[in-house]
Amino acid sequence: MTRVTVLVNQKGGVGKSTAAVNLAAVRAHQLTADQDSDAFSPVAAVSIDPQGSAMWWANQVAALPFHLIQAHDDPLEWLAQLNNLPGIAEVYVDTPGWFDLDPDGAGDGLGDGYSADALRTVLDVADEALVPMLTAPLCFDPTARTIAKLLAPRDIPYRVFINDWDPRDGDHWLAETKKFVLDRGWPLINTVVRHYKIHTNASNEGVVVTQYRKTGSAANAAQDFYDLANELNAVEAR
Ligand SMILES: Nc1ncnc2c1ncn2[C@@H]1O[C@H](COP(=O)(O)OP(=O)(O)O)[C@@H](O)[C@H]1O
Ligand SMILES: [Mg+2]
Repeated sequence: MTRVTVLVNQKGGVGKSTAAVNLAAVRAHQLTADQDSDAFSPVAAVSIDPQGSAMWWANQVAALPFHLIQAHDDPLEWLAQLNNLPGIAEVYVDTPGWFDLDPDGAGDGLGDGYSADALRTVLDVADEALVPMLTAPLCFDPTARTIAKLLAPRDIPYRVFINDWDPRDGDHWLAETKKFVLDRGWPLINTVVRHYKIHTNASNEGVVVTQYRKTGSAANAAQDFYDLANELNAVEAR
């Protein structure tokens, strides 16, 4: 079986694509540490975002250490098999943000169309959802809606993590965000992925964290994704 982790948040710009690609890179690095570099990678990042931001990496990188698949307009039957991909141990799925088409209704707010169906299909085979959020109040309601409408009704195990926190801003909003999460009883990942300019640049240049320089602030920036991956994959958490 393939373990499927879905990056999801209704809000755009919270780090879904960045995390999907970099978690795949770190896990591929860890799982293939003792193998030839040309061995088949056991990790894939799959994007079902029609805007295709994860494809920035695919367009610009010759040899990513993982499979990067843009599943736009692919048959839903293929997405329904994500938990059963031969030779693939782990898949990280990048999803689009969305407008809530049904803010007060009983539906899941996703509406109709291929993207909504693709997201529902992926959620059906997800082992876990990871919900990135920013230390900003404008992120609180969309995160709550994501959990209440998409994840809780499907009984999908989920964890929230804080992304893009800039220590130079001080820790007031970091503390407020943690409080907001914990007050609602949501499981919160300890690792806070800090804001580093290199992450923003890397996405444009097609670089993933495993390819960063191993010194200075680049190494510190990469470390957050290693810590995130390690926390996600800690044995007791599974
Ligand atoms: N920890 C971080 N530090 C710096 N820039 C970040 C960080 N996380 C995300 N970004 C940048 O923020 C923008 C939005 O991130 P992205 O992963 O595309 O969000 P989403 O997929 O949720 O819309 C991108 O330009 C990305 O490079
Ligand atoms: Mg994205």
